[in-house]
Amino acid sequence: MADTADMKKTDDTPKAVSRRKFIQGVIAGGAGVSSATYLFRASSLASAAGAGERLITLNVNGQQRRVDVMKQETLAMTLRYKLGLTGTKIGCDRAECGACTVLIDDVPRYSCSTLTHTVRNSKVVTVEGLQAADGKLHPVQQGILDEQGFQCAFCMSGFIMATVGYLKTNPNPTRAELAHGISGNLCRCQDYDKILTAFMRGAEIAREANHA
Ligand code: FES
Repeated sequence: MADTADMKKTDDTPKAVSRRKFIQGVIAGGAGVSSATYLFRASSLASAAGAGERLITLNVNGQQRRVDVMKQETLAMTLRYKLGLTGTKIGCDRAECGACTVLIDDVPRYSCSTLTHTVRNSKVVTVEGLQAADGKLHPVQQGILDEQGFQCAFCMSGFIMATVGYLKTNPNPTRAELAHGISGNLCRCQDYDKILTAFMRGAEIAREANHA
């Protein structure tokens, strides 16, 4: 049973954050989703740190980032646990789900299956790098907000990066073309119809911005 202090704390807790506000926060930085698996993996990585690490420089979201990496370290691990960019998720960790998708030189790639040291001379963009300096969401992110796409949203940042990359090659896709273009990403909630609607809206917003 909760004691008085606990009950008071509950009473003082602000009323639930709206779904829209919550989604906006997740879209921008991928905050709010973690799992015990990741914590375990993070501590494993930390305990192995120093064993064969090499200091390298990465270009991530337009910034030069100096980081010690192991030769077998994946980009997903470096981004999440050494650079603090937790918007990139790790789902399967074996190139099947797409949750870890980032852009490498504008091409969507699974960061769980990319060794960090191989991208030293490339430009890496994560979901944290999409938002404009003035806080304006990327059109693809805005499309999600407009259409309230996604349920649990664990896969969302990977889908966003896959879509941003695909739209660079085909800014005006049909729904079927977009579905095919981002078919390397899986949603465990099976919310594909809403996801596609959100991204078609995002593509529309991007075209409007380009013609403004
Ligand atoms: Fe990389 Fe699933 S976590 S593809």
